[in-house]
Amino acid sequence: TDVTFILRDGSREVVDIAEGMSVMQGAILNDVRGIDGECGGCLSCATCHVYVESLEAGELPPMGEDENGLLDGVAAERRPNSRLGCQLLAAPGLKGLVVRVPERQV
Ligand code: FES
Repeated sequence: TDVTFILRDGSREVVDIAEGMSVMQGAILNDVRGIDGECGGCLSCATCHVYVESLEAGELPPMGEDENGLLDGVAAERRPNSRLGCQLLAAPGLKGLVVRVPERQV
């Protein structure tokens, strides 16, 4: 699944993320700047914060209570399109996912 990251400098980086792998893991594996993922995806750090800018087709996994709670504590401003990258799993049905890296993670 191709996921486009909009970096802090406005440039874009497209990463092919394997099915079942999270947006956070894909970012780490491909050295996408601005995604930390310090807790490794166990929902305790909130340093994998992204803004979902668009999705052409498919549906993002629904937001769980833990994710919602953790998003209240993100370093950058929380917006309506805020999600945690470790909770967004790449799936074949997801098309054209574009996420923006926030100003800061800590
Ligand atoms: Fe820690 Fe997502 S990687 S909450």
